[in-house]
Amino acid sequence: MANLKGSLSWDWYSGTIPNNAVIDETAYIETTFSFFLYRSRAQVGLQIGKGASTYLGTMFDVGTQGRVSLGKYALVHGARIVCDDEIKIGDHALISWNVVLMDTYRAPLDPVERRKELEQIPKRKLRHIDAEQPARPIHIGANVWIGFDACVLPGVTIGEGSIVGARSVVTTDVEPYTIVAGNPARVIRHLVV
Ligand SMILES: CC(C)(COP(=O)(O)OP(=O)(O)OC[C@H]1O[C@@H](n2cnc3c(N)ncnc32)[C@H](O)[C@@H]1OP(=O)(O)O)[C@@H](O)C(=O)NCCC(=O)NCCS
Repeated sequence: MANLKGSLSWDWYSGTIPNNAVIDETAYIETTFSFFLYRSRAQVGLQIGKGASTYLGTMFDVGTQGRVSLGKYALVHGARIVCDDEIKIGDHALISWNVVLMDTYRAPLDPVERRKELEQIPKRKLRHIDAEQPARPIHIGANVWIGFDACVLPGVTIGEGSIVGARSVVTTDVEPYTIVAGNPARVIRHLVV
């Protein structure tokens, strides 16, 4: 199976697909602007499966060691994916607009360290926070649906077939086939399958 490479004929932005991205030729990337913050130097920093789609507003904010994978027929409708370690999105997952998946907080929790980090930013070519912070992988199971404006925090695993309500903040693991919602997200009910 061939992979998408280089620039995209329909793209309004003059970017290219990163060299270490493995994107199935049947996948759809609406714009390479999604890679504006992509800095991964992993052997494979991004893997996108058969028939998967990423739409306008999706940003792969992937650090140098980050690895993101998107399963077949998964659909990401404008999410911010902040990854310094690993974020896996399963087959047929549906990620709505303005969702944030972050496997790291990037900014130091200590106020003195945070101030020092902010003072470094004007000296950088890429003017953004780049503090070494711990990262814990996020795993989104197959068939999961994450509603708009929801946020998934570091270390969370969401089990197959589960649903996250709009504007929820998911701080702990979600069992398969479970609906969670709120801040912090709590179980609403279990799905009968
Ligand atoms: C999570 C969701 C699917 C649940 O739908 P539902 O099963 O019909 O749930 P209900 O409306 O019966 O609500 C059940 C309970 O959960 C609460 N709840 C539902 N969604 C919630 C949310 N996003 N945040 C907080 N609480 C929520 C309800 O207030 C209700 O609480 P109560 O029992 O105390 O009255 C739906 O609320 C939702 O958030 N959908 C998001 C859709 C979306 O993002 N679409 C984008 C297009 S991809």
